[in-house]
Amino acid sequence: MTVPTINGNAIKEAVQSAIDHYGASREELIPILNEINRVIGYLPGEALEEVSRKLRVPKSQLFSVATFYQMLSTRPRGKHLIQFCESAPCHVVGGREIWQALQDQLGLSSGETSEDGKWTLSTTSCLGICGVGPVIVIDEDIYGNVTPKQVFDILARYD
Ligand code: FES
Repeated sequence: MTVPTINGNAIKEAVQSAIDHYGASREELIPILNEINRVIGYLPGEALEEVSRKLRVPKSQLFSVATFYQMLSTRPRGKHLIQFCESAPCHVVGGREIWQALQDQLGLSSGETSEDGKWTLSTTSCLGICGVGPVIVIDEDIYGNVTPKQVFDILARYD
C-alpha cells in the first residue's frame, strides 16, 4: 500500500497534544498512545521515541504496549479496519466461510492492507457477543449473524 507521508513536526504535534490532554504521566500511557494512533492512523517509530523521551518510558515497553492492544498499530492501516472473530463459538456457526469470503473479496490475508489503502483485514479473539456469531467488526460497526452472501453488501457500505 501507499504509506502516507507524515512529517516529523506533525508527529511531534500529535504527541504533544496527546500529552497535554492526558498529562505527562505513565499511568496515562494507553490513552496517550490511543490518541496519537487516532490522529496519525498508527504509531510510527518516531512517535514512540518522542513519547519515550517525554514520559521517560523505555521504547521497548512502548513497543510491547503498542503491539499488544488491537486498537493500536505500529504499521499504517487502511482507512477501514475489519476485525474478524476467529474464536471457536463463531467458527462453528459459519465463521470459516465468512473468513474465506472476506479474503476472497478483498484479496487479503490476515494483517494485510489493500494496495489502495482502503482496507486492513485482521482477526481478533472473542468479542463477547458469541450469541450473534459469526461476527465481524468494521471500524466501530458490529455485524452479527453474518452469512457469506452478506459480506459483499456489508463491504459495499464503506467508501
Ligand atoms: S466467539 Fe466470536 S464473539 Fe465470541
